[in-house]
Amino acid sequence: MSQLHIIDHPMIQHKLSIMRDIHTGSKDFRELLKEISLLMGYEVTRDLPLEPVEIETPMRKMTARVISGKKLAIVPILRAGLGMVDGLLTLLPVAKVGHIGLYRDETTHQPVSYYCKMPFDIDQRLVIVTDPMLATGGSASDALTMLKNLGCQHLRLMCLVAAPEGVKRLQQDHPDVDIYVAALDEELNSDAYILPGLGDAGDRIFGTK
Ligand code: PRP
Ligand code: URA
Repeated sequence: MSQLHIIDHPMIQHKLSIMRDIHTGSKDFRELLKEISLLMGYEVTRDLPLEPVEIETPMRKMTARVISGKKLAIVPILRAGLGMVDGLLTLLPVAKVGHIGLYRDETTHQPVSYYCKMPFDIDQRLVIVTDPMLATGGSASDALTMLKNLGCQHLRLMCLVAAPEGVKRLQQDHPDVDIYVAALDEELNSDAYILPGLGDAGDRIFGTK
């Protein structure tokens, strides 16, 4: 069973509360999403392995530690997942970035795929999939399936706000993928929007409504 990590650090919760507020405009929403993504990145990468290297400080030689093991990739689910990329890249500047285009059909709430472009060696990388909203879980589940079909074996999902329905779906479909969220909200409404949530993340990032 995959683990659900709820990152309830006070700085993240404070910033998320401002994002949820209906009066927060796109500029602040985008900046806060970037800041939270960087902060959440600390937890998402907490267990990366380290290896020893010999270095010399101005004082003497020492055995220091650097990150070893798999290279990283960040894969946003378009559009809203794009808002989490820059924060993660600040933390992981050499990560490669792939893109998966999915939108939810307004009537059926089923994800529709329209784009996929990956680094050539994506199957060799530890992949962090980003999307602020995990509602029914359909979009994230399809994105993870697409990546597994390309050979990816080491995947993590980083979201901002999740509904219990989405977490349950992910844990059923992808029990090997850990999920990182800043908040687990109450429920979905009849349009499959998260309550209390923060509205339509893509529209709030890009100012399209
Ligand atoms: C939103 C969100 C997720 C999806 C979540 O995208 O960014 O990708 O819905 O819903 P689900 O868990 O029920 O699949 P949307 O379809 O609105 O596309 P957009 O990001 O392009 O606005
Ligand atoms: N997509 C969003 O952007 N918000 C929701 O609450 C659900 C899906």
